[in-house]
Amino acid sequence: FTVLVLNGPNLNMLGMREPTIYGKQSLSDIITDLSQQADKKHIKLQHLQSNAEHELINAIHNAYQEVDFIIINPAAFTHTSIALRDALLSVGIPFIEVHLSNVHARETFRKHSYLSDVATGIISGFGAQGYSFALDAAYSYLNKAQI
Ligand code: DQA
Repeated sequence: FTVLVLNGPNLNMLGMREPTIYGKQSLSDIITDLSQQADKKHIKLQHLQSNAEHELINAIHNAYQEVDFIIINPAAFTHTSIALRDALLSVGIPFIEVHLSNVHARETFRKHSYLSDVATGIISGFGAQGYSFALDAAYSYLNKAQI
């Protein structure tokens, strides 16, 4: 299986950015750990972090018929981007929405997501571990889908 991990704006600042909310691990640490987990399951892992909406959208388009599953932390685009939602719907690739923080325990504007109702599932509030849970969930989803 091929799984694409997408991280949205400001997530390149993980480790430095509001560590009490987002944790001390950098994004490259998180992706290194995730790649090891993927290797053990013989999953091909691709990763892109971008601060630009169009780059995330282009990566989703390029994933069409190439990628089996998407794990996406859309960051602030979660709460703003109809375009990301439409991109994910246009390629028809199942995806999990991940947030490091529990978005429901924070400001009201973080409670609404343009993606949640079309996601396979949502993981929010478990820090960097959320990506690992998402990869496990993607793996069991893809194995079930094969039967
Ligand atoms: C976030 C939550 C978003 O509300 C915020 O804009 C982020 C990160 C998270 O991982 O907790 O940038 O997606």
